Amino acid sequence: MQHSYDVLVVGSGIAGLSFACKVAEKGYSVCILTKKERAESNTNYAQGGIAAVTSQTDDFELHVRDTLLAGDGLCDEQAVRSIVEEGPERIRELAAMGVSFTQLEDGRVSLHREGGHSKRRILHVKDLTGKAIEAALLHAVDTHENITLREHVHAIDLITNRKLALAGYPVNAAVPRVLGLYGYDTQLEEVQTFASKAVMLCTGGIGQVYLYTTNPPIATGDGIAMAFRAGAEIRDMEFIQFHPTALYSDEDYRFLISEAVRGEGAVLRNLQGEPFMARYDERKELAPRDVVARAIDSEMKKSGARHVWLDITHRDEAYLQERFPHIHENCRQAGFDMAKEPIPVVPAMHYLCGGVHTNLNGETDLPGLYACGEVACTGLHGANRLASNSLLEAVVMAHRGAEAVGRYLKANDLDRPELPDWVGGDLEDSDERVILSHNSDELKRTLWDYVGIVRTDKRLQRAQTRIQNLKREIQEYYWNVRVEPRLLELRNLVDVAEMIITCALQRKESRGLHFTLDYPGKLPTPVHTGWTVRR
Ligand code: FAD
Ligand code: SIN
Repeated sequence: MQHSYDVLVVGSGIAGLSFACKVAEKGYSVCILTKKERAESNTNYAQGGIAAVTSQTDDFELHVRDTLLAGDGLCDEQAVRSIVEEGPERIRELAAMGVSFTQLEDGRVSLHREGGHSKRRILHVKDLTGKAIEAALLHAVDTHENITLREHVHAIDLITNRKLALAGYPVNAAVPRVLGLYGYDTQLEEVQTFASKAVMLCTGGIGQVYLYTTNPPIATGDGIAMAFRAGAEIRDMEFIQFHPTALYSDEDYRFLISEAVRGEGAVLRNLQGEPFMARYDERKELAPRDVVARAIDSEMKKSGARHVWLDITHRDEAYLQERFPHIHENCRQAGFDMAKEPIPVVPAMHYLCGGVHTNLNGETDLPGLYACGEVACTGLHGANRLASNSLLEAVVMAHRGAEAVGRYLKANDLDRPELPDWVGGDLEDSDERVILSHNSDELKRTLWDYVGIVRTDKRLQRAQTRIQNLKREIQEYYWNVRVEPRLLELRNLVDVAEMIITCALQRKESRGLHFTLDYPGKLPTPVHTGWTVRR
């Protein structure tokens, strides 16, 4: 059976939901596919907030300058300027949709300060900003008659006219175009065909490619892998942001301790109790993330310690409960009283700055394919994202993407063609699922050990060999068993891992989040790395 819509949106985080609302307003039929429950997304876990110039003492130039400085020469200044300048308007829309940003007693909006920002400019809803945004957007989607939201549908691969022509179907493939996608309904356990005139990828991040991450399990890089397999340009995958302060525990999932805690004066100390950041950067705890994460890594490597301490004991219980209720409660459940003792923290994989390359309209180089949010690489973040610029980018680019899709659909009289069904009906269920867990463990550990905060060509080459072996094994397995979510995700993770390593090996310098002992300096002219396959 084929489902047919004007526009398909993959993902229900801030990017997908914002875009869907805007494009549906133009009168198009929109279907959002999301692989788990509707709210499950990185967005839902965002703590610190959303950066935008809203105070009298701040201005666009300062926000632009801070973003460019963090991006270490690789930002696209036009992207930075326009996203920063559109921020306040999009924030007003979020507020109008019901996001109640925290206010001070005098009625002004409360602004957090985070690393790399020269001003207090992070709007927040206590320390659960993402949850509040997600709830407001889901409510807006629910009330829109042009939008269908399908939970538990896992997008597998894009359908393009080029792919169909290669498979022998009689389609006009002179101009490449996206025609829809295949999605696996995890409750019905069947692959369904979705036809559309445009597809917007909003699948978020890739945290699960690393052993330790702040990202939830949905972050498996599906959109990047799908775009890559369809032949869209992928950029700057080596720029992996490790958040400096995740709560140390024995588990793989690392609970985030927001940078806003350092913004309120928390101090990093080594196991001897010595504050160490002044030795690395004059901005100390509020230096950009790459600097702080490398400093912690260096302290841990020197002493062999498993973590460092984050100390905010100069603030009392009532203040912490009021300001950071979620973080305070999670630390308490883990056995730490933030008001009375330092808490153990370590860096953890947090955000991908690279991704599917788009212009400032969210358009990829494949007609009909758009990308927005963490999956996309617009040029805003360059080599290192400034804290809280991600939610800002997503909401601004969703608006622009909707405008661009509207123009595309108006300008082109597109049909929604009959597409062939997924082939795979007589394949068996796997009786060797242990391969999935084994290969997934090996992949995550390889990336953690060899493609981490400090890199060398030798470590990267070692990782590349292992990933290539894993890829061969997973590909072979993929074509011989019936699809299931874990297999789909593993196939995507191994593609993403390969892209990260390829880009990292291409970069013969240290810049932003990519730090290599082999090339500690910066090349005079910043260049992008990339990976495209021919369509
Ligand atoms: P997401 O919110 O991750 O949504 C992706 C969606 O795609 C999900 O619904 C997922 O289920 C779906 N999906 C994925 N693959 C498929 C598939 N194959 N088929 C169907 N659906 C699929 N940024 C800030 O700016 N400020 C912050 O304070 C902040 N705090 C953060 C705290 C944490 C713990 C984390 C993990 C991130 C934080 N970030 C923050 C980053 C920010 O939250 C994300 O970059 C942003 O929310 C990404 O939004 P998105 O819409 O692009 O993706
Ligand atoms: C945080 O609250 O520290 C996360 C902010 C971000 O990732 O931008």
